[in-house]
Amino acid sequence: MTTVVTGTTAPPRSVGTAHTRIEGRDKVTGAARYAGEVPFADLAHGWLVLSTVARGRIRAIESEAVLAMPGVLAVLDHRTAPRVNTDYSGLMGMRPDPTIAVFQHDRVPHLGWPVALVVAETSEQAREAAEALVVRYEEAPHHTGLDTDHPDAHALDGVMPGVTGKGDLEAELAASATVVDAEYTTPEEHHNPMEPHAATARWEDGRLELVDSNQGATWVTGELASLFSLDPGSVRVRSEHVGGGFGSKGIRAHQVAAVMAATLLRRPVRVVMTRRQMFSLAGYRSPTAQRVRLGADARGRLRALEHNSLSVTSTVHEYVEPAADPARVMYDADAHHTANRVIPLDVPSPTFMRAPGEAPGSFALESAMDELAERCGLDPIELRLRNEPDQGPVSGLPFAGRNLPACYREGARRFGWAGRDPRPGRRRDGRWLLGTGTASASFFAGAGPSTATLTAHPDGTFTVRIAAADIGTGARTAITLVAADALRVTPDRVRVRIGDSDFGPAMIAGGSMGTRSWSWAVTAAADELRDRLALGSDIPAEGITVRSDTAAAIGALTPAERHSYGAQFAEVAVDPATGEVRVRRMLGIFAAGRIINPLTARNQFLGGMVWGLSMALHEEAVRDRAFGGVVGADLAGYHVATNADVPRIEADWIEDHDPGDPVGIKGIGEIGIVGVAAAIANAVWHATGTRHRHLPIRPDRVL
Ligand code: MOS
Repeated sequence: MTTVVTGTTAPPRSVGTAHTRIEGRDKVTGAARYAGEVPFADLAHGWLVLSTVARGRIRAIESEAVLAMPGVLAVLDHRTAPRVNTDYSGLMGMRPDPTIAVFQHDRVPHLGWPVALVVAETSEQAREAAEALVVRYEEAPHHTGLDTDHPDAHALDGVMPGVTGKGDLEAELAASATVVDAEYTTPEEHHNPMEPHAATARWEDGRLELVDSNQGATWVTGELASLFSLDPGSVRVRSEHVGGGFGSKGIRAHQVAAVMAATLLRRPVRVVMTRRQMFSLAGYRSPTAQRVRLGADARGRLRALEHNSLSVTSTVHEYVEPAADPARVMYDADAHHTANRVIPLDVPSPTFMRAPGEAPGSFALESAMDELAERCGLDPIELRLRNEPDQGPVSGLPFAGRNLPACYREGARRFGWAGRDPRPGRRRDGRWLLGTGTASASFFAGAGPSTATLTAHPDGTFTVRIAAADIGTGARTAITLVAADALRVTPDRVRVRIGDSDFGPAMIAGGSMGTRSWSWAVTAAADELRDRLALGSDIPAEGITVRSDTAAAIGALTPAERHSYGAQFAEVAVDPATGEVRVRRMLGIFAAGRIINPLTARNQFLGGMVWGLSMALHEEAVRDRAFGGVVGADLAGYHVATNADVPRIEADWIEDHDPGDPVGIKGIGEIGIVGVAAAIANAVWHATGTRHRHLPIRPDRVL
């Protein structure tokens, strides 16, 4: 036994210095195993069969024929699958999406609804049998188009209330010197993480175990325990590496189907979504139709602000894309009204997709602000600075740091905004018209309760255990740096283990809250461990372990408007002969709390900004009204930005420590995408003189 204490003199701080990913070498050499690759003895493979009609009933499933095919072990459908319980509160108290309760009835609410799982000895056998399985339907008429006059449109609460309002909107609009009234649309958009969804389920010593690709082991454990009426302690979910999530990797049909099959067959069963199936099963961002009305006085101060958004949901689940939410944080007005409404359609349930609400909502709001600046004869940045609110426009709460003006100052300086000629259609480079645009970004900065376990070993090293998920953000590395600083040691003495529900409840990698929430718990545990070690007792072979739980500390947070902010800048070139838009330069400056690892943080911001470019110019899932599905539902048909589309792009940040957080973190997960589409649309207007209010800004729309 040795006496090892944590550093008495603190080593150089790790937080704030660049570190490559701890698992980076494993990932680039192929040593890192993803959920669909982890080997299991006696593994069987399930292949999902999805409905080919957009609404109706299953009349017959001719399973006998495929049960005779080579290697086929079982066909699960609504006649043979175990019953599950859906009467519970899931994530954030929300009702579960009944889509995850697979094979419970014969109704088909949309195209791509899971109707069966074929299980076989090999993946190829399962696929062949699944494709041969004859399913007969009784078809019913379906409707999949977002029509703004739909009779069933209704306000829907999300994380925030569906409707907010104060002041007399029409009176303030009438009294305004300048008014903007514009309608915007954004299309259906899909998140397609590089690693498709995959899960392997097995029963081991009376416990259900799932090796999975998800954004939170605690989340998936809780849902599976509720669905299958199990004690949460008898469910273990692991996800060592996750190749992207973006909101799509919670609980979905394939995990539930895998558990059902493993239960019936009493052997491990793996179910993997195909890329095409992801367009039906992974969730997506609803299309939106938005109307923004702004009224300003002669100095550009807002007297009236109305932001109404309409999105779609499925007929089985209510999910709202809260595109009106950014207005509740960004700008105040004497009359301030926002509403998020939905219409139920015969489509898959939409879900969280990176910066839900803010991404499409900021396109409309920040485009309208640019138009208001033009009409007021004000620089777009100046208009925004004149409308910086003193407190939350809807909540009335004080802002816990709002460094948006500093982002604009730094961004304008680095982008070369000063002296910009505000007139549109004046700059040329050969056949190209050039323009610049800007827009604001914001995203909620929250924290969720987590537990962390820290062990001090006799050899002077430490092990951190926390059910965090590294979905590609570099979370594992960030936690290591935070733990090292909290323990006053160098990072090489800290081992971080994540992605295992047995480490105790922890926040999901979602809502831009993961790193903040986990760091809080790790810091709390480290503080206690340092106290214990300071007493100077010997460390036994099994180490000294402490465990933290931040539920009480987070519950005691002073209520405030907590957000990250950013200023987005873009320069575009537009060819008026072909309608082609090329982005030439992008810059994002963020005030997003303390930055843990500049290397991966920059990467996270840039990834979001590239996605914003993609949203502005390329992404559009076209849902065919006749058959009810997405046309070209793969990465050939669904256009995303590629490296050749990505211009000179830079992201940076300003000093912005959150005093309400032990480490000073706010959160950087989602804000990178926010405001980008508006900055690009505003730049296209500056280049051409034409306002683009419908995304994506395709060549045929530019012509
Ligand atoms: Mo994010 S849309 O909370 O994964």
